[in-house]
Amino acid sequence: MRILGIETSCDETGIAIYDDQLGLLSHQLYSQVALHADYGGVVPELASRDHVRKTIPLIKEALAAANCSKEDIDGIAFTAGPGLVGALLVGACIGRSLAFAWNKPAVAVHHMEGHLLAPMLEEKRPEFPFLALLVSGGHTLMVQVDAIGEYNVLGESIDDAAGEAFDKTAKLLGLDYPGGPRLAKLAENGVAGRFIFPRPMTTKPGLDFSFSGLKTFAANTIHAQGNDVQTQADIALAFQDAVIDTLAIKCKRALKQTGLKRLVVAGGVSANKSLREQLAVLMQSLGGQVFYPRNEFCTDNGAMIAYAGLQRLKAGHFEGLAVQAKPRWPLEQLRSINDKS
Ligand code: KG4
Ligand code: ZN
Repeated sequence: MRILGIETSCDETGIAIYDDQLGLLSHQLYSQVALHADYGGVVPELASRDHVRKTIPLIKEALAAANCSKEDIDGIAFTAGPGLVGALLVGACIGRSLAFAWNKPAVAVHHMEGHLLAPMLEEKRPEFPFLALLVSGGHTLMVQVDAIGEYNVLGESIDDAAGEAFDKTAKLLGLDYPGGPRLAKLAENGVAGRFIFPRPMTTKPGLDFSFSGLKTFAANTIHAQGNDVQTQADIALAFQDAVIDTLAIKCKRALKQTGLKRLVVAGGVSANKSLREQLAVLMQSLGGQVFYPRNEFCTDNGAMIAYAGLQRLKAGHFEGLAVQAKPRWPLEQLRSINDKS
């Protein structure tokens, strides 16, 4: 079985072809970063228009790169949510229409399920059940995963997502959008211990997160200490350490609470090197294992949507003729892969 996957939920157009037996046959990614850089963040209307320009040419390229024609494709998966509604509508309209024209099933994929399953594209794959820490630009979620579609959200951010906090703090430090990876690079020159940022919501029980206070803490530190290059690097390091420590403390707590030994970390922030180092130490100390997507599949991509879509298609989960775009879509509303009704 072979599927075409389409991702257009935010500022990346991602297209991929995934085969049940052969794995990933091709994937194409177009990032809109340069388009939004002047505005310091994603401009939804510009994002939608750029997806309109890029989606169909990239589908053609992905088919050519996989040496496939429409006859070789058994279904079309597209990100139906959550995300920017205009951006989602582009992928959903193209995906649903193409499926109609080619007479194939259309599969509406949840973007965070895509992130959650992205490590399945790698050789080192986790078995179920596992704990998943999803850290993207829009969401921070701690999820107990018993099977595909069997998700128990144990904790989430009550304000900014982890990636969003990275981006906002980076902006305060004068870094261009998207600031997360740039802040991480700047932190490499930081002196540890000069500034200590709080570890929000770690002293009371629970698995929710709050990151917006760290951005304010950074703003106050910049105001008090000035903004020379070394101070910027020291603040970047202190901020990053605080986010990573907080995530690690919550992972440890969730692993203890659930008794799980396998941890999946996915979403854009999971590309962060220091986060990976700290979680490797944690999982070693607990006698567990940690799983990640490769770096390019941590951030948004079509491969994770094709993979998630194929699992749904195999379970007989596909859509009617309506175009589906759900800007808000709780993960826990998804059906279990074992639900064949
Ligand atoms: O998963 P993603 O591509 O988009 C959403 O679904 O939201 O995540 C993008 C986020 C951005 O906030 C970006 O700054 C952050 O991931 N990010 C990083 C790193 N690479 C990407 N944050 C910290 N360190 C990184 N190396
Ligand atoms: Zn994402």
